[in-house]
Amino acid sequence: MRIFVCGMGVVGRAVCELLASRGPELRSRYGVPLTLAGVSDSRAIVLAGSDSAELDPLAVVAAKQAGKLGTMEGAMPAALPPRELAGRCQTLGIDVFVDCSPTDLKAAAVPTERMLAMLALRIGVVSVNKGPLATAMPALLEAARYNQVQLRFSGTVGGGTPVLATGSTLNRGETVTAIRGIVNGTTNFILWKMATERWAFDVALAEAQKLGYAETDPTADVDGWDAAAKVVILANAVLGIRATVQQVSVTGIRGVTPERIASAAAAGKVVKLIAGASAAGLTVAPQEVDAAGPLNTSGSLNAVEFTLSSGAVVAITGRGAGGVETASAVLRDLIDIGTMR
Ligand SMILES: NC(=O)c1ccc[n+]([C@@H]2O[C@H](COP(=O)([O-])OP(=O)(O)OC[C@H]3O[C@@H](n4cnc5c(N)ncnc54)[C@H](OP(=O)(O)O)[C@@H]3O)[C@@H](O)[C@H]2O)c1
Repeated sequence: MRIFVCGMGVVGRAVCELLASRGPELRSRYGVPLTLAGVSDSRAIVLAGSDSAELDPLAVVAAKQAGKLGTMEGAMPAALPPRELAGRCQTLGIDVFVDCSPTDLKAAAVPTERMLAMLALRIGVVSVNKGPLATAMPALLEAARYNQVQLRFSGTVGGGTPVLATGSTLNRGETVTAIRGIVNGTTNFILWKMATERWAFDVALAEAQKLGYAETDPTADVDGWDAAAKVVILANAVLGIRATVQQVSVTGIRGVTPERIASAAAAGKVVKLIAGASAAGLTVAPQEVDAAGPLNTSGSLNAVEFTLSSGAVVAITGRGAGGVETASAVLRDLIDIGTMR
């Protein structure tokens, strides 16, 4: 199976490294040969020389780290329009386009167009970029269905923790009727520090930034938009609700006070940023949850509860981010696609 990896940051490079380290094992275990045939970053696209040629994933990573991706053989400027890039991918026999480019909900049009161009040429898409899914998931799912090609996005929710796969598996026996949980590790870390160390919001945010959990611009996390993107993906993929991020009622955690956290604690509760999806709607907001329940996770851990038609509740907990973890979700998607062919 021939792959194009778009985005050579933390996740894209980890995908290349995993292709190199696990490729032979995955080939013998699942019968799926994974071949790198193209990569890109914000400035350059590097393509294999022909439909039987391949790129060495470790050479690509080394070139990227040396700032020399644009000087590799087969490199060209990144300014190819989406349809032209898709056409080149088709000519090179690329089966799956892996999108590891940055999530930006306000600038999702170009990556969405790129994915639609790939799907239209029956090139499968694996995305960890949440932007196109949050803003245009119904259209992307329809394009994949219409063109009978795979669209996968395991790494967008829960990083390496198989949150979406758990929801899909549960749906086979019963119906998942509602989902709620913690899908943003940065806000969980901040609220956890506010509760356990009695820090003010600003102090906890500064610590999260120091430890690399929060970006310099923390808006997407603390104002709830990252969680909103993920709840849209969960709602579409698991509940079959065809929504976009515009339909989510979003409240972030900037207004959570030490007093609210203290009064929750006195009642045996903790305040968490809870993403929820059901037929009643999609929400992201700080909520009080049981201190003794599965949603009271420490640090940056994610936790998601699925309510089933029988009333049973199943929870999954794990790390929600990390380059290698998220790249491992990409590999799971690639193997799933490869074993279906
Ligand atoms: N890191 C995680 O733990 C994690 C977990 C789950 C999901 N994700 C998602 O995974 C994606 C990648 O995350 P990351 O941490 O790897 O980000 P990152 O380190 O910032 O890397 C982003 C990469 O995308 C490239 N890029 C930017 N614009 C591009 C364009 N128009 N075309 C092609 N490439 C472009 C950048 O190029 P330059 O190198 O030239 O700047 C960079 O190589 C994001 O959508 C993120 O939300 C990340």
